[in-house]
Amino acid sequence: MSATITGAAVVAGICGRPVRQSMSPVIHNAWIAAAGLNAAYVPFGPGEEQFESFVEGLRGGAIRGLNVTMPFKEQALACADRCSDLARLAGAANLLVFETDGTIVADNTDGPGLIEAIAVQAPGFELTAAPVVILGAGGAARGAAAALALAGAPKVSIVNRTVARAQAIARTIGGVVEAASDRELDTLLAGAGLVINATSLGLGGGAGPEARLELTPKAAVVMDMVYKPLRTEFLQRAEQAGRRTVDGLEMLLRQAVPSFEAFFGAAPPASVDVRALALAQLGETSQ
Ligand code: ATR
Repeated sequence: MSATITGAAVVAGICGRPVRQSMSPVIHNAWIAAAGLNAAYVPFGPGEEQFESFVEGLRGGAIRGLNVTMPFKEQALACADRCSDLARLAGAANLLVFETDGTIVADNTDGPGLIEAIAVQAPGFELTAAPVVILGAGGAARGAAAALALAGAPKVSIVNRTVARAQAIARTIGGVVEAASDRELDTLLAGAGLVINATSLGLGGGAGPEARLELTPKAAVVMDMVYKPLRTEFLQRAEQAGRRTVDGLEMLLRQAVPSFEAFFGAAPPASVDVRALALAQLGETSQ
């Protein structure tokens, strides 16, 4: 939040349930303060059944825009009048912009966040040359598959406990995205350039998904979308196998950048160490 809020302030926010634990207000308000903007970024936690009426009430520019998180990302897409190709393919939106003519525009910055996180933590990695294995077939997996397919990945294989969910994603996105079974996992890993955990396994410190990461080529990159804890069991196994890793926190931080630009019309100031801020909120030490 800026030091002074006047009647001309630009307001944006995050909508989720629960929204308490969201790191977005800390990140965006730190950027707002450093940029000296007359603006504020606030949390909203409407009831599960109230999301649609909440968003409808914002039409016409009551606020500039909204980030959307669990469990409302699919509903957010459904509320919009227009959306980006990526949001449509991902089946979910994490960004809504309220135009002054009353229309709502949806986008998905999780996908670009994922790709940026890889560029930052695994520099030089060639996305267009690397078959991808995604573990999991929930909303996070679908978003990742859509973003990677649009970014030119040659093949995206989805492996999930419930195969039908992986097949549904492959059908919806099509093209390079395919569903694969557990039995094929070792072979897929042996040819993978990028392996992503998009299951919820590992959240809170438990074991990550079973996958013999040591089978991957030495140059392969392993990413976890779980970021609590930051060094998940899955990423630790990847490190032990000598693979480069990308953490979920970097993805979270990177998806915030295009959101900030959409709300406030400028890039966030580079002077703020948002990773350190986020790590402090997570109770992790800076790294
Ligand atoms: P999100 O929308 O955040 O991706 P989700 O839709 O609940 O969340 O998806 C969670 C993913 O983790 C799913 O792929 C789920 O597998 P199923 O589709 O078979 O349910 C996966 N997952 C959760 N717990 C799991 C477990 N114990 N073993 C294997 N996969 C698990």
